[in-house]
Amino acid sequence: MTKFLTKKMKNRMFGLFLFIVFAIALYAVGTAAYASEAGSVTLTLPSIATVAQVSIVLENEQLTYILPSPVTDGNMSVETALANRRSHRNFQNRAISAQQLSQILWAAYGITLPNPHPALRGGLRTTPSAGATFPLEIYAVVGNVEGIEPGVYRYIADGHKIVRVIDRDVRSELAEAALGQRMVREAPASVFFSAVFSRTTGVYGERGRRYVYMEIGHSAQNVYLQAEALGLGTCAIGAFTDNRVRQLLELPAEEEPLYLMPIGYPR
Ligand SMILES: Cc1cc2nc3c(=O)[nH]c(=O)nc-3n(C[C@H](O)[C@H](O)[C@H](O)COP(=O)(O)O)c2cc1C
Repeated sequence: MTKFLTKKMKNRMFGLFLFIVFAIALYAVGTAAYASEAGSVTLTLPSIATVAQVSIVLENEQLTYILPSPVTDGNMSVETALANRRSHRNFQNRAISAQQLSQILWAAYGITLPNPHPALRGGLRTTPSAGATFPLEIYAVVGNVEGIEPGVYRYIADGHKIVRVIDRDVRSELAEAALGQRMVREAPASVFFSAVFSRTTGVYGERGRRYVYMEIGHSAQNVYLQAEALGLGTCAIGAFTDNRVRQLLELPAEEEPLYLMPIGYPR
């Protein structure tokens, strides 16, 4: 049939063909751009609680949970978290998720820049540390966390995991040791902080003690802000009987108990 077409007609048809191809390509690119924009919106929709999985392993015969990876992008600005932060002392009888606990522990002392140097025990963290000596030890006191057995766990930043050190719910006893502060019993979990002062005083002498106190403030504020951003609440607790806490949590002799932060949905 093409032999009946003049050269001019053939050129016109070829031009039309090119136009159609170009129009289809434009439409495809536009659709893809819209789809990726829509995708990023839906990605922010699932709550953190729905995307988490914990892995359970036995390390040196100790129950160990490899925590879900922390997220580094949330739905609340740091300014809003600062403006809204308050100490909460009443909590709902409601579990928090493993992802929320993971996020709180990461905010407290998680690794943000891995480094294999043994002294760093995994790398640089969410919290600044004098001489990168990282004197803090962080524990999760678990009572009602989805997917995690009640007990007391040491947080190991290197590998983002928690290792069980006590295999029962100690919240009531811990509340008694904290001068009867009810919030410790009510909250589904608490973050507990101790410090090995010698890590820092070994470098800075007596002055290192104040550096440890400064560092725990950084870490605790991270927990306040992260809790706020997750729709949770917390309260810094300094009032407890050191020896009772030391015994209850079976702290190693080199660790000094310092701070306690119950975490949960505010009532
Ligand atoms: C070092 C320190 C120790 C604290 N100890 C306790 C405590 O044992 N019990 C308590 O209910 N609140 C305690 N708090 C929380 C303060 O009471 C609270 O931060 C203060 O009332 C200001 O309220 P806000 O945090 O809501 O701004 C402590 C705060 C700090 C900084």
